[in-house]
Amino acid sequence: MKRELILKKCDHCGAMVEVMQDCQCADCGLICCGKPMRTIQSNSVDAAFEKHVPTYRRIENQLLVTVNHVMDEDHYIEWVALVTDNRVGKKFLQPGNSAEVLFPYVPNGTLYAYCNKHGLWKKEIEQ
Ligand SMILES: [Fe+2]
Repeated sequence: MKRELILKKCDHCGAMVEVMQDCQCADCGLICCGKPMRTIQSNSVDAAFEKHVPTYRRIENQLLVTVNHVMDEDHYIEWVALVTDNRVGKKFLQPGNSAEVLFPYVPNGTLYAYCNKHGLWKKEIEQ
């Protein structure tokens, strides 16, 4: 089964955690500020798809990942991640950076980008 990035967020304080293995029961979950944390769904916010979904280009044994998004102080891509069956790589970005990241090329991975206003976006890497 392909590995997915599982993120949970507290809607009260904004805390966000990455889950290694999620609980499978229906009635419990991680608690923050006294309430269950919400699982963040990718590509689910009503925002410009083309400005958030990461794109990539293979350059020999590397993957150049680009997000066509502004990198302003109040609206930017916080991080880009590459998830494979045996690895999670993440590069954190700052306002003013370019939203470009280099990862080692691996086939069949999944790219994620996280916008501070519009949440999580993902793109499967085709071989
Ligand atoms: Fe955004």
